[in-house]
Amino acid sequence: MYRNTKEILDKITELKRKRRAIILAHNYQLPEVQDIADFVGDSLELAKKALNVDTDVIVFAGVSFMAEMAAALNPDKIVLHPDPSAGCPLADYATPEVIKKYKEEHPNIPVVLYVNSLAASKILADYVVTSSSASKLIQRIGKDEVLFGPDRNLADHVTKRTGIKVIPLPPYGRCPVHQYLIDEYHLIKALEKHPKAKVLVHPEAPLEVRERADFIGSTSQMLKAVGEMNAEEFILGTEEGLSYRARKLYPNKKVYPLNPRAICIDMKKITPLKILRSLEALKPKVVLDKEVGKKVKEIIERSLDMLR
Ligand code: 13P
Ligand code: SF4
Repeated sequence: MYRNTKEILDKITELKRKRRAIILAHNYQLPEVQDIADFVGDSLELAKKALNVDTDVIVFAGVSFMAEMAAALNPDKIVLHPDPSAGCPLADYATPEVIKKYKEEHPNIPVVLYVNSLAASKILADYVVTSSSASKLIQRIGKDEVLFGPDRNLADHVTKRTGIKVIPLPPYGRCPVHQYLIDEYHLIKALEKHPKAKVLVHPEAPLEVRERADFIGSTSQMLKAVGEMNAEEFILGTEEGLSYRARKLYPNKKVYPLNPRAICIDMKKITPLKILRSLEALKPKVVLDKEVGKKVKEIIERSLDMLR
């Protein structure tokens, strides 16, 4: 039994050294997890970082599709996901069965999957994108139409940005946090409190909110925008964890979550104590079928090459 949080944090530091481990964390993680991480970023930054890790162990503080991706990119390393029940409900919409059905119905149309998808689904795609790379990569494919899933709002955002027809796969896939908690009502409420604030929004948010945004981008693109925009106050239309990171990076700016109750409960399942336990026991390990992992790696590398 640990007596205080400092003891837990010190033990994590000690075990990280002993195990030759790195902690990668997503921008929505709890503040105390962000603070002990070696690297914090959005999905694209985390994928790129995972490609260049030289430690023996990766502890992934995020949801399972992210940990799976780190494991696929590092077949010879131990990848730990401190709480395997931390999934992403959005990822579950694009099942392999749904993708196969859409491919049959739309032969010869490229299939692009959002990184928020399961490994078993990714291997059926031609490309995998993140919210920061979707528009650029889809434009570079050079076709008039693509199949894209599972996030319907991101699909709509890409169509609006690029003019390319995006067939949503399936038509009803949405992130519950963004769809229901980053809504028009909470935007109006936040603007009543902070009328001068710039509104930055994640593309997973519904249309009514995206339409009123000053900037739309991935979590790290939103952070960059806070630093670069000539304004003092910002409303962040995404999961509330990003506000902690923005305030830490830019202490001179005022940052408010669009809705402080917009919490991704799965992201918050990772705690320092769970990270410590997994470093102690070297489990739970992310175990991916070798062939599936190899194919996911190929697709991610091919997709990253398209962005160069
Ligand atoms: P980012 O890639 O923008 O960090 O998004 C990940 C995510 O899960 C958004 O809900
Ligand atoms: Fe998935 Fe939404 Fe949570 Fe992001 S915020 S991990 S899309 S449930």
